[in-house]
Amino acid sequence: MAPTFSTSDSLYEFVVKEGNGVKGLVDSGLSEVPERYVQPEEKRINKLRTRKHNVPPIDLSKLKGPDHKKVVDEIVRAAETTGFFQVVNHGVPLELLESLKDSSHRFFNLSPKEKSLFCPGVSPSTKVKYATSFAPEKETTLEWRDSISLGYTTDQDALQYWPNQCKGAALDYLKSASKLVRDILEVLIESLEVKVEESIVDIHSGMKVVKMNYYPSCPNPDLTVGVGPHSDVGAITVLLQDDIGGLYVKLDEDNNNNNNNNQKEWLEIPPIPGALVINIGDTIEILSNGKYKSAEHAVRTSSKSRVSVALFNFPKPTLKIGPLEELVKKDGVARYRRVLFQDYMNNFFTNTHHGKESSLDFAKST
Ligand code: OGA
Ligand code: NI
Repeated sequence: MAPTFSTSDSLYEFVVKEGNGVKGLVDSGLSEVPERYVQPEEKRINKLRTRKHNVPPIDLSKLKGPDHKKVVDEIVRAAETTGFFQVVNHGVPLELLESLKDSSHRFFNLSPKEKSLFCPGVSPSTKVKYATSFAPEKETTLEWRDSISLGYTTDQDALQYWPNQCKGAALDYLKSASKLVRDILEVLIESLEVKVEESIVDIHSGMKVVKMNYYPSCPNPDLTVGVGPHSDVGAITVLLQDDIGGLYVKLDEDNNNNNNNNQKEWLEIPPIPGALVINIGDTIEILSNGKYKSAEHAVRTSSKSRVSVALFNFPKPTLKIGPLEELVKKDGVARYRRVLFQDYMNNFFTNTHHGKESSLDFAKST
């Protein structure tokens, strides 16, 4: 029988504190979403006002070959406009992508009790965190998502502390996808045409986290969000999505053709079998002094459950991030100030999701 929650607090207790997650709520039987999940109008993605992002995926294998320049142009163009693109022939084996999705389902299909062993406070490692929504203790309205974050330190720690259901595939993904992360970051930085230290790519992507997202089937996709509007704070993110769809990117003002409409437009990033989604994070927008755009994105829920697996590539917390000095000279203006990445992350993780400004404003020059 469906549980009845007499107050919003008892729902919070069940979903967040007891570690049942949204999945626990759905599994207990639900014909409509509880009030606590009903988003205000401005946070919802109105499907009628969306378009498909029909740009063909970029063939990464051609980066080394006669078409090098063309592929570089495609990557740079995407980074300067939407901040989102998809890649194929990316070097991550397709069987690995399948086993990643399977292992993600395996983890979220565990009982709430088993998953709760990875809740903050009891998890065997501070780097491994099973959670629901984004910042439930601060959010008035909760997001329709459960997740597990797997922070990487060493192989040994990963094999010891990551959940058995997904550690093998997650670690292989991290290793394999890190190569394409490097290639893409090199292209982006070289195209800035300024002198940089050789280590620049590594120091801006040296902290890695695999995050598995689970969006349970939702009875009211129009009223809820899986993830609210945000940009990722790291350098770039690699994302594997399954075939359900629901990932949207918001067009920047400059790129919005829809001038007679003040509302920014949402573009759907459609699932493409075998492809990986790449999105630019705040760190690269800041480093490039605003030339590359970190992408504001969000996820709509669906009547079917969906999984996705992100590889976040962050700078180390002790790094001061900021626009490249030579670029600032060339541009005649510093659009961002230099900030300690730890402070940047603290600001992001103590806020709720409310657009890319909720993170980037922290580093804006005043
Ligand atoms: C994220 C995210 C998108 C998705 O985890 O930061 O934006 O499709 N995920 O799950
Ligand atoms: Ni994101």
